[in-house]
Amino acid sequence: MDTVQQIKDRLSIVDVAGQYVKLIRAGASYKARCPFHSERTPSFVVSPSRGTYHCFGCGAGGDIFSFVEEVEGIDFRGALKILADRAGVTITEEKPGERNEREELLAACEAATVFYERQLAGNEPAKDYLRGRGIAEATIRSFRLGWAPADWRGLVSHLKEKGFDERAIERAGLAKRTEKGAYDRFRSRIMFPIADSAGRVIAFSGRIFEPAGTAHPEGQEPPKYLNSPETPLFHKSRILYGYDRAKLSIRKYDCTVLVEGQMDLVMCHQAGWTNAVAVSGTALTEEHIALIRRLSENLILALDADEAGIRAAAKSARIALAQGMDVKVAALGAKDPADLINGEGKEAFAAAIRGARHIITFLIDTLERAQPERRAFARAVERGVLPFVAAIKSPIDREHFLRETADRIGMPEAAVREALARALAELAHEQGPAPRAQEPAAAPVRRAADPAIAHAQTRQLLGIYLWQSSLPAPALDLAKLAQEIEDATGITPAIPETLSEEERESLRFAAEGLFGDSVSLAADAEALRIAVYRGRLQRELAIASSDLRRAEAAHDETAAADALSRCAHLTTAIAKIDTIR
Ligand code: UTP
Ligand code: MN
Repeated sequence: MDTVQQIKDRLSIVDVAGQYVKLIRAGASYKARCPFHSERTPSFVVSPSRGTYHCFGCGAGGDIFSFVEEVEGIDFRGALKILADRAGVTITEEKPGERNEREELLAACEAATVFYERQLAGNEPAKDYLRGRGIAEATIRSFRLGWAPADWRGLVSHLKEKGFDERAIERAGLAKRTEKGAYDRFRSRIMFPIADSAGRVIAFSGRIFEPAGTAHPEGQEPPKYLNSPETPLFHKSRILYGYDRAKLSIRKYDCTVLVEGQMDLVMCHQAGWTNAVAVSGTALTEEHIALIRRLSENLILALDADEAGIRAAAKSARIALAQGMDVKVAALGAKDPADLINGEGKEAFAAAIRGARHIITFLIDTLERAQPERRAFARAVERGVLPFVAAIKSPIDREHFLRETADRIGMPEAAVREALARALAELAHEQGPAPRAQEPAAAPVRRAADPAIAHAQTRQLLGIYLWQSSLPAPALDLAKLAQEIEDATGITPAIPETLSEEERESLRFAAEGLFGDSVSLAADAEALRIAVYRGRLQRELAIASSDLRRAEAAHDETAAADALSRCAHLTTAIAKIDTIR
């Protein structure tokens, strides 16, 4: 049996989607707030019986594989790996030579990781250094830390021996090319492999580690950390270091701890904070926030509290607040997480996390320390804090922090509210109009004189048919239903060309949502069919009576007689329906 089917048999869409969003049971299906667009009321639905999901707001839809691809932002093979790991299914690797470029680059990164790991194993000073930083042997293995030797072609020669060509090595970001051939990008560095959300190494970050006294020409000192460049695998703005290992913990603890550096990340995890992720060598982006916000709305920033650290925290916080997250700042003092954990122990770090203050409170505290003069302090808060209050998405939270701000600067609420209104206007100006999400309308089975209701009922009826025909064991006689729908609406639901697949899936979900827990589906479908049919007859009656009026005005007796007989016929048919009901 093929891997995909094996995985589908073992994992339900409810288990898979439930790892990323909070699913609420709604009859036979489940609802959630859509992970693919921002919304307040849930329009994302999951059907366990069909193994699919659909969002009425943004139109996203598919099965467990497309869900993981979209939510993790990775390719199909990455989703396959994540799901295979979860399902305990082994993927049979294809032969080299059949690899496409992405797979070739992934293989090069993997081979480089193994190479660096072996190099570290043989390098006592580097191991001593890591030990001195408090990193345990088991952590080195589990994070696959390595060592890039000082030579210029150590990795390149090794990878070429393994059959990789220079071009692939360069494209993977591992080497630079010149006319004289390729040379290693990373030299004399402790290597931190960066993985995608499926745990496949796609890039590296290397921390300089040289013998004391190594000389560098003036102005050519190497940077402390060197990161892979953007490659077909690695997009800095979308990758968080440690995300692959943190995602389940983030969901479990309902909180993300965001740190700045590689060392910080590794030490946090070692200290038990497995819900930590790091931005590596770049500013936090909206895409980074989108990744973690799907797992939890709570974010704790654990950045050093120097001036640059506070600025970085503020910038990150604003992006996160704008996406509706609750943002706190840990009270780390002068140390970064790695140094705090190694220096004062993991209890000290835990205390800092526990003492985390909301970003607004934190900013006010910081300004108050810097500006003891009350009026200057109030103005600094207006400039430096209100834009953050404005960025808070929830009106209730915003109101709360508006009061806190007024209270802290000793100003009447009304004055602060006015200043906040300005900050909000500026923010709205920056962001442009907000997108609106639409909700499906559930119309009860009623007489459908109103064309909008008739349209909604027709769609529900088609939806019931499409939904039932996608089930392994439909509860209705599908051939009969199809015929009845055709009679009532003139639409043949079995012909796929009449509706796009996306439209069909949307109809299935709407019907499942409305009728999924019905105890009398056949009766419901019948009532709908009759209502739709009656609506159709009524529309025909309206046409016939206007034909009749026109024929009479024109003194066209033949046409009048024809219209009259149609009217009589339709009136009888409608009356007959009404007596059955
Ligand atoms: P820091 O200079 O604060 O280093 O840079 P650090 O994390 O404390 O490093 P250690 O503890 O001495 O090993 C913070 C982060 O900024 C990025 C790295 O991700 C680093 O961890 N950085 C720093 C770079 O990308 N390039 C650099 O040259 C320096
Ligand atoms: Mn540090």
